[in-house]
Amino acid sequence: MQKRTIETKLEIYSFEELDKSNQYLIEKAKEQVQKAYAPYSGFQVGAAIELVNGEIITGSNQENSAYPSGLCAERVAMFYANAQFPDIAVKSMAIAAFTNGEFLEVPVTPCGSCRQVLLETEIRFENNITIILYGTKEVYLLENVKQLLPLCFEKSSLIG
Ligand code: THU
Repeated sequence: MQKRTIETKLEIYSFEELDKSNQYLIEKAKEQVQKAYAPYSGFQVGAAIELVNGEIITGSNQENSAYPSGLCAERVAMFYANAQFPDIAVKSMAIAAFTNGEFLEVPVTPCGSCRQVLLETEIRFENNITIILYGTKEVYLLENVKQLLPLCFEKSSLIG
């Protein structure tokens, strides 16, 4: 028997320490929470994507009375980006969450299904996506989606 430890690398910043382009993307994600449709959870999430051509795409969570039919902010934004710009790689994505009248102190982290969808885009364009997870106390920066999804299933897994 062997044991193996898998590491996730992330950098932790205060908002003020971030460079201007990352601050801007966070501001866009924060604005977007206002457009969430989250009457069931009251948990409003905003996502903002920067494409390599500079285009900014935003999205928010969209809930449904049939709960599983709703969709997270990250997938709303990423599917829109890929649908509208199928040939343009994604550079970075910022996520912010707002509930009970305030933004979360601790950075919001994407659910498993969103991680899988974000990974597909990263692999599809062979371009790392910087992930920026906003919290009022600190911000996490990850150099790519792979950091969020160790032991991932991806297209190369299909070949065996
Ligand atoms: N949600 C997101 O949109 N993104 C996340 O990263 C976590 C969860 C949404 C799904 C649902 O509408 C609500 O937040 C509560 O889970």
